[in-house]
Amino acid sequence: MDKILIEGGQRLSGDVEVSGAKNAALPILASALMTSGTSFYSHVPGLQDINSILSLLSHLGAKIEKEGHQIQIDTSGANNHEAPYDLVRKMRASVLVLGPMLARLKKAKVALPGGCAIGARPINLHLKGLELLGAKIDLDHGDVTAVTDGLRGAEINFDMVTVTGTENLMMAATLAEGVTILRNAAREPEVVALAETLNRMGANILGAGTAVVTIEGVPALEPVQTRIIPDRIEAGTLMVASAMTGGDVRLKNCEPEHLGAVIAKLRSAGVIVEIDGDQIHVKGNGPVQSVDIQTMPYPGFPTDMQAQFMFLMSIADGSSLIAETIFEKRFIHVSELRRMGADITISGNTAIVRGVSQLSSAPVMATDLRASASLILAGLVARGKTVVNRVYHLDRGYEALEKKLGGLGAAIWREKG
Ligand code: EPZ
Repeated sequence: MDKILIEGGQRLSGDVEVSGAKNAALPILASALMTSGTSFYSHVPGLQDINSILSLLSHLGAKIEKEGHQIQIDTSGANNHEAPYDLVRKMRASVLVLGPMLARLKKAKVALPGGCAIGARPINLHLKGLELLGAKIDLDHGDVTAVTDGLRGAEINFDMVTVTGTENLMMAATLAEGVTILRNAAREPEVVALAETLNRMGANILGAGTAVVTIEGVPALEPVQTRIIPDRIEAGTLMVASAMTGGDVRLKNCEPEHLGAVIAKLRSAGVIVEIDGDQIHVKGNGPVQSVDIQTMPYPGFPTDMQAQFMFLMSIADGSSLIAETIFEKRFIHVSELRRMGADITISGNTAIVRGVSQLSSAPVMATDLRASASLILAGLVARGKTVVNRVYHLDRGYEALEKKLGGLGAAIWREKG
């Protein structure tokens, strides 16, 4: 297994490009199943999770051509409605083919995704919504089977905000008869990007980005040509890297508007953040100040930036409270950070982080995608050489992060395993 090694102490500086967003690309590529024809996608990030969704789509009968960050998907022959466990277990987001298949083929069989390191992550709200749209749902031998003689519009109130739940039902409702209203819907930029793509395919979706989304069903969708939005979580991770090292980094090709909560917290921590069109300039400005964080659905502070911020707070002046309200087990990175000398106490869903003057290097273990990126951030400032193991977690959601950080002056390299 690959590992990444970092010699701490380098101040980051220079320009870096932000890649396309994993969490926008996954539902948008799945939506190709909702039409019969060839669609074109550009600025698609080179990630393991993207390879996983493409393998699943080709298993379902789609023809895929890939050239760098451009992908062409022909779904005219995509008539297979079964997504097997072997493919789904690689990536929970595979559940995003459920809505599209049910809408287009009137049947779908998808392996139930298991639990994950950060939480139980059930899909009960996806299934409840599909039932309200008129699907018959069965859970059997670890598979979800859904059939319908034709989906019909309905009013769906989400008990809690769910990103992929909103996306799955928005896709299913697009080809349903009549009007669907999604209440307490997720407002993430990735949900908006999916709605915009579907509307360009001929859908009729209003209100994406607000808590109430209205979808008027249409008989069919056309293929599309679209560009994937920048990855706000990759951008946020690079911004924290600059802040942690007292750096001077300019992020190019990002969407500052999508990073409101992250920018506000960095500024409260005393970091200089300047916005110039699609560029964000992040400059260290003396000791980082402690700030409190509470993760929330968008536009609140993203849970996918919680670990990175905890690492920043571990070397800040003062103590901070970090409350994780989205995933019940998303503090697993704390024990690894403690191995590097951090002073953190957990109480329920809140971590009390007392800043220390210096972290020290150690061999550490990545446990999930965002935790792995954060361990690399810690390695950038730790005294000595840090070894991050199990970086396959990182490759799921970051495109050549060590190369990007290396380009900014970090002493970082990958050892193939
Ligand atoms: C999406 O996951 C993202 N993944 C996650 O990013 C992100 O952390 C999460 O949204 C929250 O922002 C993708 O977009 C592919 P949820 P999702 O449904 O949709 C509970 C990353 O690092 N819930 O919004 O799976 C759930 O357990 C990943 O890139 C139910 O109880 O998250 C959680 O506590 C990690 N029943 C909460 O809702 C359901 O049916 C929010 O989960 C659905 C969700």
